[in-house]
Amino acid sequence: SECPIEYHAIIDSTNSELMRRLQDKQNMGSGHVLVAEMQQAGRGRRGRVWQSPFGANLYYSYYWQFDAGMQAAMGLSIAVGLAVYDALKVLYGISVELKWPNDIYLNQQKLAGILVELEGQVEGPCHLVIGIGLNICMPESASKHIDQAWTDLQTHLGQIDKNQLVVQLTHSLSERLAQYKESGLSEMVTEWNSLNAFKGDAVTLSTGQREWRGICEGIDMQGGLLLRQDGELKAFYGGEISLRKV
Ligand code: ATP
Ligand code: BTN
Repeated sequence: SECPIEYHAIIDSTNSELMRRLQDKQNMGSGHVLVAEMQQAGRGRRGRVWQSPFGANLYYSYYWQFDAGMQAAMGLSIAVGLAVYDALKVLYGISVELKWPNDIYLNQQKLAGILVELEGQVEGPCHLVIGIGLNICMPESASKHIDQAWTDLQTHLGQIDKNQLVVQLTHSLSERLAQYKESGLSEMVTEWNSLNAFKGDAVTLSTGQREWRGICEGIDMQGGLLLRQDGELKAFYGGEISLRKV
Protein backbone atom coordinates (compact mmCIF):
# COMPACT_ATOMS: atom_id res chain seq x y z
CA SER A 1 0.00 0.00 0.00
CA GLU A 2 1.13 3.57 -0.72
CA CYS A 3 -0.16 5.48 2.28
CA PRO A 4 2.04 8.11 3.88
CA ILE A 5 3.83 7.60 7.16
CA GLU A 6 4.25 10.96 8.86
CA TYR A 7 6.99 11.45 11.49
CA HIS A 8 7.06 14.09 14.21
CA ALA A 9 9.76 14.64 16.79
CA ILE A 10 7.50 16.01 19.53
CA ILE A 11 3.71 16.15 19.71
CA ASP A 12 1.11 16.29 22.49
CA SER A 13 -0.46 13.01 21.41
CA THR A 14 -0.55 11.29 18.02
CA ASN A 15 -4.20 10.36 18.66
CA SER A 16 -5.13 13.94 19.62
CA GLU A 17 -3.47 15.28 16.46
CA LEU A 18 -5.43 12.98 14.14
CA MET A 19 -8.66 13.65 16.06
CA ARG A 20 -8.11 17.42 15.61
CA ARG A 21 -7.68 16.91 11.88
CA LEU A 22 -10.97 15.05 11.77
CA GLN A 23 -12.72 17.82 13.66
CA ASP A 24 -11.21 20.39 11.25
CA LYS A 25 -12.53 18.27 8.38
CA GLN A 26 -9.06 17.84 6.92
CA ASN A 27 -8.87 15.16 4.30
CA MET A 28 -6.90 12.06 5.13
CA GLY A 29 -6.83 8.80 3.29
CA SER A 30 -7.51 5.57 5.14
CA GLY A 31 -4.19 4.16 6.26
CA HIS A 32 -2.61 7.53 7.07
CA VAL A 33 -0.06 6.93 9.84
CA LEU A 34 1.42 9.37 12.34
CA VAL A 35 4.45 8.46 14.47
CA ALA A 36 6.18 10.61 17.09
CA GLU A 37 9.46 10.26 18.98
CA MET A 38 7.91 11.69 22.11
CA GLN A 39 4.45 12.68 23.41
CA GLN A 40 3.95 15.46 25.91
CA ALA A 41 0.39 14.35 26.71
CA GLY A 42 0.20 10.67 25.82
CA ARG A 43 -3.15 9.24 26.81
CA GLY A 44 -4.42 5.86 27.96
CA ARG A 45 -8.07 5.07 28.56
CA ARG A 46 -10.25 7.19 30.84
CA GLY A 47 -7.83 10.11 30.90
CA ARG A 48 -4.94 8.04 32.24
CA VAL A 49 -1.41 9.01 31.31
CA TRP A 50 0.60 6.97 28.80
CA GLN A 51 4.26 7.46 29.66
CA SER A 52 5.85 8.69 26.42
CA PRO A 53 9.46 9.72 26.96
CA PHE A 54 11.76 10.70 24.11
CA GLY A 55 13.66 7.83 22.59
CA ALA A 56 13.06 4.42 21.28
CA ASN A 57 9.43 3.66 22.24
CA LEU A 58 6.76 3.65 19.59
CA TYR A 59 3.90 6.19 19.66
CA TYR A 60 1.76 5.41 16.65
CA SER A 61 -1.68 6.36 15.27
CA TYR A 62 -3.48 5.03 12.21
CA TYR A 63 -6.48 6.67 10.58
CA TRP A 64 -9.20 4.51 9.09
CA GLN A 65 -12.58 5.29 7.61
CA PHE A 66 -15.13 2.59 8.12
CA ASP A 67 -18.51 2.65 6.40
CA ALA A 68 -20.51 0.37 8.66
CA GLY A 69 -20.95 2.86 11.51
CA MET A 70 -20.10 3.03 15.17
CA GLN A 71 -21.99 -0.04 16.27
CA ALA A 72 -19.81 -2.22 14.07
CA ALA A 73 -16.66 -0.46 15.22
CA MET A 74 -17.11 -1.77 18.78
CA GLY A 75 -15.13 -4.97 18.27
CA LEU A 76 -12.25 -3.18 16.67
CA SER A 77 -9.78 -3.38 19.58
CA ILE A 78 -9.91 -7.13 19.10
CA ALA A 79 -8.77 -6.87 15.47
CA VAL A 80 -6.09 -4.31 16.37
CA GLY A 81 -4.72 -6.52 19.17
CA LEU A 82 -4.36 -9.34 16.66
CA ALA A 83 -2.56 -7.02 14.24
CA VAL A 84 0.01 -6.18 16.93
CA TYR A 85 0.37 -9.90 17.64
CA ASP A 86 0.89 -10.60 13.90
CA ALA A 87 3.54 -7.91 13.46
CA LEU A 88 5.60 -9.08 16.45
CA LYS A 89 5.26 -12.72 15.38
CA VAL A 90 6.36 -12.04 11.80
CA LEU A 91 9.30 -9.80 12.72
CA TYR A 92 10.67 -11.43 15.88
CA GLY A 93 8.94 -14.80 16.23
CA ILE A 94 7.56 -13.91 19.67
CA SER A 95 3.98 -14.58 20.82
CA VAL A 96 2.40 -11.83 22.87
CA GLU A 97 -0.77 -12.36 24.89
CA LEU A 98 -3.87 -10.20 24.73
CA LYS A 99 -5.81 -8.74 27.63
CA TRP A 100 -9.38 -7.69 26.95
CA PRO A 101 -10.14 -5.19 25.61
CA ASN A 102 -6.96 -3.32 24.73
CA ASP A 103 -3.69 -4.44 26.29
CA ILE A 104 -0.74 -6.44 24.96
CA TYR A 105 1.30 -8.52 27.40
CA LEU A 106 4.67 -10.19 27.16
CA ASN A 107 5.77 -12.43 30.05
CA GLN A 108 2.79 -11.23 32.16
CA GLN A 109 3.93 -7.63 31.81
CA LYS A 110 2.34 -4.81 29.84
CA LEU A 111 4.20 -4.26 26.57
CA ALA A 112 1.71 -2.15 24.64
CA GLY A 113 -1.69 -0.51 24.83
CA ILE A 114 -4.33 0.32 22.24
CA LEU A 115 -6.58 3.38 22.29
CA VAL A 116 -9.28 3.49 19.59
CA GLU A 117 -11.17 6.77 19.26
CA LEU A 118 -13.98 7.42 16.85
CA GLU A 119 -16.15 10.05 15.32
CA GLY A 120 -19.30 9.25 13.43
CA GLN A 121 -22.90 8.12 13.76
CA VAL A 122 -24.39 4.86 14.92
CA GLU A 123 -25.02 4.15 11.26
CA GLY A 124 -23.11 5.40 8.24
CA PRO A 125 -19.48 6.42 7.89
CA CYS A 126 -17.28 6.31 10.93
CA HIS A 127 -13.82 7.83 11.35
CA LEU A 128 -11.42 5.88 13.51
CA VAL A 129 -8.13 6.80 15.07
CA ILE A 130 -6.29 3.70 16.20
CA GLY A 131 -3.54 4.55 18.66
CA ILE A 132 -0.83 2.08 19.65
CA GLY A 133 1.81 2.69 22.28
CA LEU A 134 4.46 -0.01 22.23
CA ASN A 135 7.49 -0.05 24.51
CA ILE A 136 10.73 -0.71 22.67
CA CYS A 137 13.31 0.69 25.06
CA MET A 138 11.94 2.43 28.14
CA PRO A 139 14.26 4.92 29.83
CA GLU A 140 14.69 4.51 33.58
CA SER A 141 13.36 8.03 34.28
CA ALA A 142 9.91 7.31 32.83
CA SER A 143 9.56 3.74 34.01
CA LYS A 144 9.27 4.72 37.66
CA HIS A 145 5.97 6.47 36.89
CA ILE A 146 4.30 3.30 35.62
CA ASP A 147 2.22 1.79 38.40
CA GLN A 148 1.90 -1.75 37.07
CA ALA A 149 4.17 -4.49 35.73
CA TRP A 150 5.50 -3.48 32.31
CA THR A 151 8.17 -4.52 29.85
CA ASP A 152 9.78 -3.44 26.57
CA LEU A 153 10.99 -5.28 23.46
CA GLN A 154 14.66 -4.58 24.00
CA THR A 155 14.64 -6.51 27.28
CA HIS A 156 13.66 -9.65 25.37
CA LEU A 157 15.18 -9.12 21.93
CA GLY A 158 18.04 -6.65 22.11
CA GLN A 159 18.35 -3.90 19.50
CA ILE A 160 15.17 -3.21 17.51
CA ASP A 161 14.77 -1.43 14.16
CA LYS A 162 11.86 0.93 14.80
CA ASN A 163 11.26 1.82 11.14
CA GLN A 164 10.94 -1.82 10.24
CA LEU A 165 8.44 -2.25 13.07
CA VAL A 166 6.39 0.75 11.87
CA VAL A 167 6.21 -0.66 8.34
CA GLN A 168 5.25 -4.18 9.47
CA LEU A 169 2.69 -2.91 11.98
CA THR A 170 1.07 -0.76 9.30
CA HIS A 171 0.91 -3.73 6.97
CA SER A 172 -0.52 -6.06 9.64
CA LEU A 173 -3.11 -3.45 10.63
CA SER A 174 -4.29 -2.95 7.04
CA GLU A 175 -4.73 -6.70 6.68
CA ARG A 176 -6.66 -7.16 9.93
CA LEU A 177 -8.86 -4.12 9.19
CA ALA A 178 -9.64 -5.50 5.73
CA GLN A 179 -10.54 -8.82 7.36
CA TYR A 180 -12.73 -6.99 9.89
CA LYS A 181 -14.50 -5.09 7.11
CA GLU A 182 -15.06 -8.30 5.17
CA SER A 183 -16.27 -10.64 7.91
CA GLY A 184 -16.28 -8.83 11.25
CA LEU A 185 -14.83 -10.87 14.09
CA SER A 186 -16.12 -14.20 12.82
CA GLU A 187 -12.67 -15.50 11.87
CA MET A 188 -10.87 -13.79 14.75
CA VAL A 189 -12.67 -14.95 17.91
CA THR A 190 -11.04 -18.39 18.16
CA GLU A 191 -7.66 -16.92 17.40
CA TRP A 192 -8.04 -14.16 19.98
CA ASN A 193 -9.21 -16.66 22.61
CA SER A 194 -6.09 -18.75 22.11
CA LEU A 195 -4.00 -15.67 22.95
CA ASN A 196 -6.10 -14.53 25.93
CA ALA A 197 -3.69 -13.58 28.73
CA PHE A 198 -6.37 -14.29 31.40
CA LYS A 199 -7.77 -17.51 29.94
CA GLY A 200 -9.42 -19.59 32.66
CA ASP A 201 -8.29 -17.21 35.39
CA ALA A 202 -10.34 -15.89 38.29
CA VAL A 203 -10.89 -12.19 37.60
CA THR A 204 -12.76 -9.15 38.81
CA LEU A 205 -14.39 -6.95 36.25
CA SER A 206 -15.43 -3.45 37.24
CA THR A 207 -17.84 -1.31 35.30
CA GLY A 208 -17.55 1.76 37.50
CA GLN A 209 -20.99 1.03 38.98
CA ARG A 210 -20.15 -2.38 40.34
CA GLU A 211 -17.71 -5.27 40.41
CA TRP A 212 -18.22 -8.77 39.09
CA ARG A 213 -16.20 -11.84 39.94
CA GLY A 214 -15.88 -14.89 37.76
CA ILE A 215 -13.73 -16.96 35.48
CA CYS A 216 -12.51 -15.30 32.30
CA GLU A 217 -13.75 -17.44 29.39
CA GLY A 218 -12.65 -15.22 26.50
CA ILE A 219 -14.68 -13.19 24.00
CA ASP A 220 -17.95 -13.76 22.14
CA MET A 221 -18.74 -13.08 18.46
CA GLN A 222 -19.23 -9.34 19.14
CA GLY A 223 -15.96 -8.98 21.01
CA GLY A 224 -17.67 -8.84 24.41
CA LEU A 225 -15.95 -10.45 27.39
CA LEU A 226 -17.46 -13.69 28.70
CA LEU A 227 -17.40 -14.16 32.47
CA ARG A 228 -18.47 -17.48 34.00
CA GLN A 229 -20.24 -17.28 37.35
CA ASP A 230 -21.61 -20.47 38.92
CA GLY A 231 -21.77 -22.18 35.55
CA GLU A 232 -23.53 -19.27 33.83
CA LEU A 233 -21.97 -17.08 31.18
CA LYS A 234 -22.44 -13.33 31.25
CA ALA A 235 -21.18 -11.05 28.46
CA PHE A 236 -19.80 -7.54 28.96
CA TYR A 237 -19.46 -4.90 26.27
CA GLY A 238 -18.12 -1.41 25.95
CA GLY A 239 -14.82 0.27 26.56
CA GLU A 240 -15.01 1.63 30.08
CA ILE A 241 -14.52 -1.69 31.82
CA SER A 242 -11.46 -2.81 33.77
CA LEU A 243 -10.35 -6.40 34.16
CA ARG A 244 -8.01 -7.62 36.90
CA LYS A 245 -6.73 -11.00 38.03
CA VAL A 246 -7.96 -11.89 41.51
P1 ATP B 1 -7.64 -1.15 32.15
O1 ATP B 1 -7.71 -0.47 30.83
O2 ATP B 1 -8.12 -2.55 32.07
O3 ATP B 1 -8.20 -0.40 33.29
P2 ATP B 1 -4.93 -0.35 32.58
O4 ATP B 1 -4.63 -0.19 34.02
O5 ATP B 1 -3.88 -0.94 31.71
O6 ATP B 1 -6.12 -1.33 32.41
P3 ATP B 1 -5.14 1.80 30.70
O7 ATP B 1 -5.86 3.08 30.76
O8 ATP B 1 -5.49 0.84 29.63
O9 ATP B 1 -5.32 1.09 32.09
O10 ATP B 1 -3.59 2.10 30.56
C1 ATP B 1 -2.98 3.13 31.30
C2 ATP B 1 -2.08 2.52 32.35
O11 ATP B 1 -0.99 1.86 31.71
C3 ATP B 1 -1.42 3.53 33.25
O12 ATP B 1 -2.24 3.82 34.36
C4 ATP B 1 -0.11 2.83 33.67
O13 ATP B 1 -0.34 1.94 34.73
C5 ATP B 1 0.20 2.01 32.46
N1 ATP B 1 1.20 2.67 31.58
C6 ATP B 1 1.37 3.96 31.29
N2 ATP B 1 2.36 4.16 30.42
C7 ATP B 1 2.82 2.94 30.12
C8 ATP B 1 3.82 2.47 29.27
N3 ATP B 1 4.55 3.29 28.50
N4 ATP B 1 4.01 1.15 29.23
C9 ATP B 1 3.30 0.29 29.97
N5 ATP B 1 2.33 0.68 30.80
C10 ATP B 1 2.09 1.99 30.87
C1 BTN C 1 -3.93 2.04 27.12
O1 BTN C 1 -3.36 0.98 27.42
O2 BTN C 1 -4.66 2.65 27.89
C2 BTN C 1 -3.77 2.60 25.74
C3 BTN C 1 -2.49 3.38 25.57
C4 BTN C 1 -2.40 3.96 24.17
C5 BTN C 1 -1.17 4.80 23.96
C6 BTN C 1 -1.02 5.27 22.53
S1 BTN C 1 0.55 6.02 22.20
C7 BTN C 1 -0.02 6.59 20.65
C8 BTN C 1 -1.45 7.09 20.88
N1 BTN C 1 -1.46 8.45 21.36
C9 BTN C 1 -1.91 8.55 22.60
O3 BTN C 1 -2.00 9.60 23.25
N2 BTN C 1 -2.30 7.34 23.05
C10 BTN C 1 -2.05 6.30 22.07
